[in-house]
Amino acid sequence: MEKFYTTTAIDYVNGAPHIGHAYEKILTNVIFRHFQKRTDDAYMLTGTDEHGIKIQKTSAQNGQTPKDFCDNNAQKFIDCWKLLDINYSQFIRTTDENHKKTVQKIFKKLVEKGDIYKHSYTGLYCAGCEAFLSEKDLDEEGCCPNHKKKPEIVSEENYFFKLTKYKEQIEKHIKQNPDFIIPSFRANEVLNQLENIEDISVSRAKTNVSWGIDVLDDPEQVIYVWIDALSNYITALGYDTENPSADFKKYWPADVHVIGKDILKFHSIYWLAILMALELPLPKHILAHGWITIDETKMSKSLGNVVSPSSVIESFNMDIPDALRYYMATSAPCGKDGNYSDEDFKEKVNAHLANSMGNLLNRTLSMLVKYFDGEIKEEFIVKSELFDEAKKTIAEVKHHFDYYEVQEASLKIVELVDKANKFVTDNAPWTLAKEEKMTECGKVLYIVLETMCTIASLIEPYCPNIARRMASQLKYDINTKYDDITFNNIKAGKLISKEEITPVFLRLDSELADKAKK
Ligand code: ME8
Ligand code: MG
Repeated sequence: MEKFYTTTAIDYVNGAPHIGHAYEKILTNVIFRHFQKRTDDAYMLTGTDEHGIKIQKTSAQNGQTPKDFCDNNAQKFIDCWKLLDINYSQFIRTTDENHKKTVQKIFKKLVEKGDIYKHSYTGLYCAGCEAFLSEKDLDEEGCCPNHKKKPEIVSEENYFFKLTKYKEQIEKHIKQNPDFIIPSFRANEVLNQLENIEDISVSRAKTNVSWGIDVLDDPEQVIYVWIDALSNYITALGYDTENPSADFKKYWPADVHVIGKDILKFHSIYWLAILMALELPLPKHILAHGWITIDETKMSKSLGNVVSPSSVIESFNMDIPDALRYYMATSAPCGKDGNYSDEDFKEKVNAHLANSMGNLLNRTLSMLVKYFDGEIKEEFIVKSELFDEAKKTIAEVKHHFDYYEVQEASLKIVELVDKANKFVTDNAPWTLAKEEKMTECGKVLYIVLETMCTIASLIEPYCPNIARRMASQLKYDINTKYDDITFNNIKAGKLISKEEITPVFLRLDSELADKAKK
């Protein structure tokens, strides 16, 4: 694999990040970290979407300039991703000067090509979507199905993009590439939406929306959010209509755009058409993830059940974000909705990370110290069927990640941990020690520790800190590429002393967490 380029949706900065935003960034980051172990050139882009009427209005309500308001809120996203160990390569803001300049050039190029034209128009505008809707998009009450609000009637002279020109080409692309939209069951939905498309408004009159990127040569109009927002995926790499940068040449097209199912239409129809108009290669995959609900209900400000990632970290008193990363990334099968609940969170991470995985390492190392003073003897080093299982798991995990099946991949890792646990139970090294079959006992411990190296590698994308703690006690290089994993990491000699053994993940104590919450 030569390179890997993944992106997230860029979040509107009209509020603080919640667990739904975090879900997407964690999912993408797990994918990114996995591919970092398959190529030297992996790149992850995330950022914030800062223009449009919503930001203009909210900032005015707050008595702030839109720019100050955006600076303040964008920082909340940056801080939150840091807290969650999202090690992105770049954070783009649509208010970045370079982004704005390139969007203006893109717009100009499409005007020159005849794909953007000016047109007087009366339409139904949903501020929630930052988009014009057609009658067909509305529900029975005449409301936007996503925002449950009646759209405003807006009459304006706008620039329009000839989306209809690309309709057939888009249809062909989706039909000929059945894994372009992941999960594939959503492709039909998109094909249905494509049936009804019309040309789309890509600018707004400045008298109605002023917080946006100016149309070059037309001071009365600002470029309207979707063409601005979607372009981030290429402007970030230094795309330029005349002179694309080295990074653009290297990373484009994206391997996968990770987005929520609510904005699939914009990515699989609008974005494809824009790229086709610019004569650029198309992204390889679009992963449309599902919704995160809270206690099985939709998260919303009016319901007052919006959960912030930092509040979870704080209320459970966690020194690392790994448990939340693990829980979120594995909360739903690919493309399906997931749920967050405090109880379920605690139960799952205690079971998987503390009891199964953490304990396995801890008790195996403890036995090595107890019986052998932490030393691996030459005669312990043998081959094992468990290594074949581990090899099979690596292949299965890679295969799932080829389709961005992050939860499905995690289940394979959990299975391997279970197999290693069963191996210990079946071979009962404590009994072997009692019977003074010391070489047999040592072999069992060695086999488990060697397998734990693979487990550390596989869990790293989900739980980077826990993996690092595991690797450090195993004297294993956590940056090992998946294809370079050999089963001779643990060498003869002293591996660990009693003082060096520390639990890699402490159980979330329910009482402690409950107390912290009050
Ligand atoms: O749509 N569960 O921004 P946004 C899962 N700026 N995902 C959720 C979620 C939830 N409860 N709530 C939101 C926008 N998301 C545009 C994107 S991309 C060029 C422009 C996801 O802040 C949502 O699906 O409304 C989207 O992918 C992302 O968070 C940002 O949503
Ligand atoms: Mg939204």
